Amino acid sequence: MSLALPMAACHPVLREERVGRIRHIRPTSEAVQAFLQRTAAITTDDLRRIPYKRFICAREMQAVFGEDIGNRLRAIIDDYETGCIALHFAEQENQKDYVRIATGISHLLSKPIPEPSGGYFGITTVVHDDAPALKILDPYRTFSMHTDGVFADNPVDWLMMMKLEEENAAGGESRLLHMADFDDFGRLHRLEENGTVFPFGLDEKDRRYDIFSKVSSMEKGRSRILDERNGRRRIKFVDQFILPATIAEATFIETVQAALESCPAIIEDPLPVGSMLILNNAVWVHGRAPFARNTGLRRSLLRQYGFFPDRHPEMP
Ligand SMILES: [Fe+2]
Repeated sequence: MSLALPMAACHPVLREERVGRIRHIRPTSEAVQAFLQRTAAITTDDLRRIPYKRFICAREMQAVFGEDIGNRLRAIIDDYETGCIALHFAEQENQKDYVRIATGISHLLSKPIPEPSGGYFGITTVVHDDAPALKILDPYRTFSMHTDGVFADNPVDWLMMMKLEEENAAGGESRLLHMADFDDFGRLHRLEENGTVFPFGLDEKDRRYDIFSKVSSMEKGRSRILDERNGRRRIKFVDQFILPATIAEATFIETVQAALESCPAIIEDPLPVGSMLILNNAVWVHGRAPFARNTGLRRSLLRQYGFFPDRHPEMP
């Protein structure tokens, strides 16, 4: 008989609980350290350049947290009542630890979609800046509620946001809203009952077109904004990328946006460093509250997006 216990026998999860619609999972620090030791030889450069190593991180997650961990996470994402996981890994010594953790988790769910930087993950660092080039980098304005994924070959089923660092960062909470709690959904859905299917994309002249064309065919996504199937509400909404053709369509988009931003059921979640949120992108919208002004502000989030291949047979 082997003296080595399988890692899953060491109670790798300290606590799992549902708070509101969010399922919180808190791995033990022993389990997190075991994972980091097992993957210590894998560098961030390896993960950027050698695709198979990403799945090795997922395999080592299974070794520590049990073979079923990926199925458990997928079941929460697919559960309409929650569809949101907060995984708390706690603060680690350096960023490369977070990259291995985030990679292991994402590759348990499904292969991530390349994001605009061309990699399978991206890191957004917000610092004090009064005139940033991108809306997402503007610390002092609300980043409006939206879903991720725009183009036809970018069908985001889940997204991950992991907090890597935070300094002088008051405010800036993630704002989250589940469609079941969106009181205006029914009224707005009836307004849209003529079945308008909106194109989602970018005009070719837009300066962001070249950036996105590196990771997408740029074929426009086509979708209703609000949809309801079998009693389950769904949304696809991102103000920067919906292309209305008429004043009436633009007015409808404006009405949806105003209702989303003012919905009293919005949750503001102060994600700790070392924690990640994974959201079902069809039933949750997300955004960010403004930060309090501070010249020393610095906050980094790692982001990943993915789709479930069994849901998108059209995808290569
Ligand atoms: Fe987003």
